Amino acid sequence: MPEDHFGERIADRYDESSADMFEPAVVDPVVDFLADLAGSGSALELGIGTGRIALPLARRGIRVHGIDLSEAMVARLRAKPGAEDIEATIGDFATTRVDATFSVAYLVFNTIHNLTTQDEQVACFQNVAHHLEPGGCFVIEVGVPQLQRLPPGETVRAFDVTETYLGFDEYDVASQGLISHHYRVADGRLELRSIPFRYVWPAELDLMARLAGMSLRERWSDWNREPFTSDSRKHVSVWEKPAG
Ligand SMILES: C[S@@+](CC[C@H](N)C(=O)[O-])C[C@H]1O[C@@H](n2cnc3c(N)ncnc32)[C@H](O)[C@@H]1O
Repeated sequence: MPEDHFGERIADRYDESSADMFEPAVVDPVVDFLADLAGSGSALELGIGTGRIALPLARRGIRVHGIDLSEAMVARLRAKPGAEDIEATIGDFATTRVDATFSVAYLVFNTIHNLTTQDEQVACFQNVAHHLEPGGCFVIEVGVPQLQRLPPGETVRAFDVTETYLGFDEYDVASQGLISHHYRVADGRLELRSIPFRYVWPAELDLMARLAGMSLRERWSDWNREPFTSDSRKHVSVWEKPAG
């Protein structure tokens, strides 16, 4: 089982520290997009966390099942109104099987990067393909690797610097490894948290989808279906399992 980087301390303040991601202006387009794809079927969220997307999607009448490694994150989800309509399974979303099939599976907020090897990312696509109904879709929201912003020879790039918070990404381009270092001043104390990721390119994800028997159906730069271009900082991609 991969290491759980979302223990009690992180789960306790996840909603507050990601408050901007809970804004209706951010959540509503995601839910619209996923509800369209789900149609009259049901949805599987990989890395359901505290239910930022799953809860509003379930309120649209869509049956949602989630998988997450973190007991602490899922406990926060279960404490929220509406959680009784959502099934959550504790496990690694690259390998955990649930006893149901889905018309859409989704993995948002860069969470594919939490799988730190190519093998695990490939396994994740295969696990999703196993759970999708024919014609079902897999949706990923993830940043485009920001290597153009890393000066030649450098390995560390600051992504946020304020009086109370410093954030640095440390790259290992040989392995597509990335460690995000977060230094936060809270209650007069300095807290450090470092999380390992594996960044992944859009074309590499397309190959992973192909290995799992799926093909690219749509790629946008955001949930409002703005075009994906060379300048896009992130993408929302949809792969489809053959209908036949
Ligand atoms: C950034 S949070 C996103 C949570 C939620 N999807 C959202 O959009 O707010 C990432 C979540 O993925 C979970 N996670 C990370 N790696 C995982 C893995 N290999 N298997 C299952 N869950 C994982 C974490 O525990 C955490 O809840």
